[in-house]
Amino acid sequence: TTTSVQQALAGHIPEGGEVTVRGWVRTRRDSKAGLSFVNVSDGSCFSPIQVVAPSALANYESEIKRLTAGCSVIATGTLVKSQGQGQSYEIQAESIEVVGWVEDPETYPIQPKAHSLEFLREVAHLRPRTNLFGAVTRIRHCLAQAAHRYFHENGYFWINTPIVTTSDAEGAGQMFRISTLDLANLPMREGKVDFSRDFFGKEAFLTVSGQLNVEAFCLAMSKVYTFGPTFRAENSHTTRHLAEFWMIEPEIAFADLAENARISEEFLKYLFRAVLDERADDMAFIAERVQKDAVTRLEGFINAPFERIEYTEAVSLLQKSGHTFEFPVEWGLDLQTEHERWLTEQHVGRPVVVTNYPEHIKAFYMRLNDDGRTVAAMDVLAPGIGEIIGGAQREERLDVLDARMDQFGLDREHYGWYRDFRRYGTVPHAGFGLGFERLIVYVCGLSNIRDAIPYPRAPGQAEY
Ligand code: 4AD
Ligand code: MG
Repeated sequence: TTTSVQQALAGHIPEGGEVTVRGWVRTRRDSKAGLSFVNVSDGSCFSPIQVVAPSALANYESEIKRLTAGCSVIATGTLVKSQGQGQSYEIQAESIEVVGWVEDPETYPIQPKAHSLEFLREVAHLRPRTNLFGAVTRIRHCLAQAAHRYFHENGYFWINTPIVTTSDAEGAGQMFRISTLDLANLPMREGKVDFSRDFFGKEAFLTVSGQLNVEAFCLAMSKVYTFGPTFRAENSHTTRHLAEFWMIEPEIAFADLAENARISEEFLKYLFRAVLDERADDMAFIAERVQKDAVTRLEGFINAPFERIEYTEAVSLLQKSGHTFEFPVEWGLDLQTEHERWLTEQHVGRPVVVTNYPEHIKAFYMRLNDDGRTVAAMDVLAPGIGEIIGGAQREERLDVLDARMDQFGLDREHYGWYRDFRRYGTVPHAGFGLGFERLIVYVCGLSNIRDAIPYPRAPGQAEY
């Protein structure tokens, strides 16, 4: 039977049975006894499988002893209990077919040693072959599956919102504009190329958030979410920002801010639980190489309630902290990462939900509180990274929404469709956005968000 390495190691195949595995060589070691040990990985689980190649194999001298990291092979043999430590099973090979050689083993970028993450970013197409990126890739998949499962189990519908849009959902003006490149027929205006109206004659952008679109479905289907790529043209060279990232945005009808916060906590804990249950092998490696307490930390977050702090209280805690911050702390200013991290790391030591921010530093769609100075916003802050979730109860009152849009200089006509939800059967509703790569950074204890996505897009990084 042809099987994955994961199935072979997990004992899905009877001991003593014949198996075939296909994959890529990690290492080869020759013993004095005239045997070679070839570790083969196919990415299906953290561990490679050890293939024991006896010198009696027909191609032993001509090929097996020339195998190097990266060569692709098909190995057939008997599955036996392994004597080696930490290995359940190994394969006593009857044949090893070499499918693809590594052209120049000396210069093959992925050598069996630790590489710097900076170096691996330059060979992003080969980094899936390393232990770390294999682990991160499987954890990313596990989190995505668990997110869909959570919503499905709780009665949410997945709505695919558009990538191309004309509205700036966050009102922050940091969008990429779409251009059509018909080089033979460039749109000209006053002797210059005019890309300003270029989506079939209209101005269009890459979406910064699917929220406004998903609200429409929320106000018909009750519980919905988007999960897709989003784009921000903020030119920030930080370890927490990407120009292209994935966001998970649930939206819930008849929910208020407290319910929104409760759901965000339940959702995150569900995701942490899934990773601990399903990716123990990868998390053990993360704990060994990246973050010592990766597993116990997640368990701790699952078992304790998230802290809740109002923005106003957070500001006074920061002011009284005695800590010297680079950025000023003052009521009315947005919290910076250093402030967020102090709150979640120094002050409580677990995730924190900060609520009720000043109205002028948050988006136009957030519900104005009775004090007239704050909005029903919430950010979930996590140790080691800061904000991973941003959300709010939405402004469902048309007159208040209109006033907010005027205040932000937004065109009512342009947002006419969005105003319609408040005109036809408006209800209180709330939702949030979880940055998918921030979540991965957090779960894996990574220090740079560029290592949480297969192909990072950031200033100066758009290869492939
Ligand atoms: O706080 P943000 O901007 O909120 C929204 O977009 C809302 N429309 C969400 C909603 O209520 N439905 O972004 C939400 C999250 C942030 O908390 C952060 O985790 C992530 O998206 N995020 C980024 N992740 C990577 N790179 C960037 N440039 C990011 N900007 C935001
Ligand atoms: Mg935010």
